[in-house]
Amino acid sequence: MRLSLRFVLPLLLVLAGIAYAVAPLVDRMTLRWFVRDIEIRAELIANTIHGPLLEQLAAGKKAKTSEFFNRILQDERLYAIGYCATTTAPMLASRTLPAEVTCASLQRWKAPGEQLLSGARGLLHVAVLPVNTDTPAVTDTTTETDTTTPTTTAAGHLVLVHDMSFMTRRSEETKRYLFYVFMALAAAVSLITVVVAQLSWRGWMAGMQALLRGEGLLRRPEVSPQSSLPGFKPIARDLQRLIKELESENRARDESQLTWSPDTLRTILHGELRGEDVIVVSNREPYIHQRRGEMVEVQRPASGLVTALEPIMRACSGTWIAHGSGSADQEVVDSHDRIAVPPEHPAYQIRRVWLTPEEEAGYYYGFSNEGMWPLCHIAHVRPIFRSSDWAQYVAVNRKFAQAVVKESKTRNPIVLVQDYHFALLPKMIRDELPDATIISFWHIPWPNPESFAICPWREEILAGMLGSSIMGFHTQFHCNNFVDTVDRFLEARVDRESFDVSFGGKMTAVRRYPISIEWPPEPALLKKSVPECRSEIRSRNGLPQEHKLGIGVDRLDYTKGILERFRSIERLLELNPDWIGRFTFVQIAAPTRSSIDEYQHHEAQVRALAARINARFDRRGPPPIVLKVEQHATPQVYEYFRASDLCFVSSLHDGMNLVAKEFVAARDDERGVLILSEFTGAARELPESLIVNPYDSDQCAAALHLALSMPDLEQRDRMRLMRGLVAEFNVFRWAGRMLLDAASKRKRRRLVGKPERAD
Ligand code: F6P
Repeated sequence: MRLSLRFVLPLLLVLAGIAYAVAPLVDRMTLRWFVRDIEIRAELIANTIHGPLLEQLAAGKKAKTSEFFNRILQDERLYAIGYCATTTAPMLASRTLPAEVTCASLQRWKAPGEQLLSGARGLLHVAVLPVNTDTPAVTDTTTETDTTTPTTTAAGHLVLVHDMSFMTRRSEETKRYLFYVFMALAAAVSLITVVVAQLSWRGWMAGMQALLRGEGLLRRPEVSPQSSLPGFKPIARDLQRLIKELESENRARDESQLTWSPDTLRTILHGELRGEDVIVVSNREPYIHQRRGEMVEVQRPASGLVTALEPIMRACSGTWIAHGSGSADQEVVDSHDRIAVPPEHPAYQIRRVWLTPEEEAGYYYGFSNEGMWPLCHIAHVRPIFRSSDWAQYVAVNRKFAQAVVKESKTRNPIVLVQDYHFALLPKMIRDELPDATIISFWHIPWPNPESFAICPWREEILAGMLGSSIMGFHTQFHCNNFVDTVDRFLEARVDRESFDVSFGGKMTAVRRYPISIEWPPEPALLKKSVPECRSEIRSRNGLPQEHKLGIGVDRLDYTKGILERFRSIERLLELNPDWIGRFTFVQIAAPTRSSIDEYQHHEAQVRALAARINARFDRRGPPPIVLKVEQHATPQVYEYFRASDLCFVSSLHDGMNLVAKEFVAARDDERGVLILSEFTGAARELPESLIVNPYDSDQCAAALHLALSMPDLEQRDRMRLMRGLVAEFNVFRWAGRMLLDAASKRKRRRLVGKPERAD
């Protein structure tokens, strides 16, 4: 109503103004028409009285002529009448003739446009017409001929004065009607406009709300019939793109202005997310309590995921739900299966979930690591899919979903689901907590649709993952593969431009978030100087001080390319025998998933190959390969990184590989060379490393030789660039970007007043 008034009143005023401005124009036009009418009328009268007048004049009856004129004046519009024989003669006229009209002034009234006279009775029109003896009178108002000059045929001039006051009356009436017409027009236009505007506004608002929810206009009609407004679709798409561009522009600007640290994360959590409930779910726990005789030892697992998430949780003080796998885990938790960590400075809670040996065998060893792991990595190991493993995988995912529901303090927590162990969890959480914001991160690669197709439960896995609000991968390549896979196997709508997937009435944003490490590294890790590390590590391994050292740190996993790495070292020594006895490669290999046949087999192969190569080159000094199949704590690993001349990461396929980034972080002396497999996510971020194909042992041998001979200055230049990148794109930025995206999704939901469910 207010809108209508605001619109109608100005419109009425505008139209009234137009009417007011148009009125004089109408006046002028009607005056012209009336004058023309009067002139025709005057000619008619002149023609009619021509004969009787000539007779009167011929008879010389002047008094009779005046009476004759007064009789003619019965006509309501004819005001006065007169006759001039010559310009000097007195006028024979009716009583009403205005004093200004004389025989001497006839010439003036004949001039075009000069026939009007304002008198006491109002406006008068004066017409002067010739009276001829042999021809009927015609008006000469259109000619310039001086008709007052007597000719042989002209007998004088007739003067007819018409009353034009009726014209003023008519003009007033016309103006009044004009005003009414404009007012009626204004009312009609306003009414139509207001009705149309109301209808469009409602439709537009519904469209905008749906658009802001990231659904609606682009959603299929069967999902939401009221949102299928085809006319809006192009606008909606443009607007959506614009919003996203603005968001990403803002994000890029904000990100570059931020220093990403634990404090930045805390600020985002307490500011953007208003200190909301944060829950992390992963299979591997960040602290494992192991019983060693009388003692309970706290272990940190060799896991990229833990490396990345632990500093985040220290900053956020949330709850981390994970499988309690340590032998003393149950002894140390409270009655709710929780324990505060880190042990030295508790900052957040671990909530442990207990699994039976059958569950662990089917869910972890079976489906996750014999099925999904080889399925997602191109390492030429066949996945094994058993339905009994799948049943355990489903059951354990449900168990974790229940733990999430129990641990969440609100109806809309932020849940960070980690990795391929929990593909079904996002949907299970969504079913229980529809308003939750679920950010899932897939730490390993995602294969192409053809490779993924071999999984017998591919649809269930994809549908489970699409319960997430945001689905994150390390690289755009993995995002593309995922979206292609969804497109191939699900009835989902995939927007290739925005990388949003709409499935089952909800949206999942598929995004790239390259994971990283803590920066700056904990000072304790860099406390021992590089020369000290070099010297101690060499002494500990029985190597001469000037001996060249290479380092590899991995879980003993077939995807890491440890066999290929050893073959490259062998090839180096074949091609450049000078390095025999002068170069040793230390391989730290943390035992992993050892109850799986493939891993046992792989460990045996690695041990055998190292032994064979060492045997081959053993004669001339220290062995080329030192294999340490044991878990190493982070400070020990950093010591090795700082002591080495090169680090070799030769993964056959790897989501990111944080060892590469840790080596760079460890080298505050800006020395050391990184050799990096092109099949890691890290290779896209660290092009200053020596990028190699691990299957090409000649190329890898050349890279090893280049690294061992690289001048200090070149090492410095490369290392400086890589350190700059890791510093800027650290793990706080990785988590911060996901949380900021989650925050803007939640804000958008609040803005349009919709629950999170429709994310
Ligand atoms: O980096 C990939 C990854 O699967 C992590 O997600 C996982 O924590 C790590 O490897 C170690 O694997 P696991 O927990 O099976 O020892």
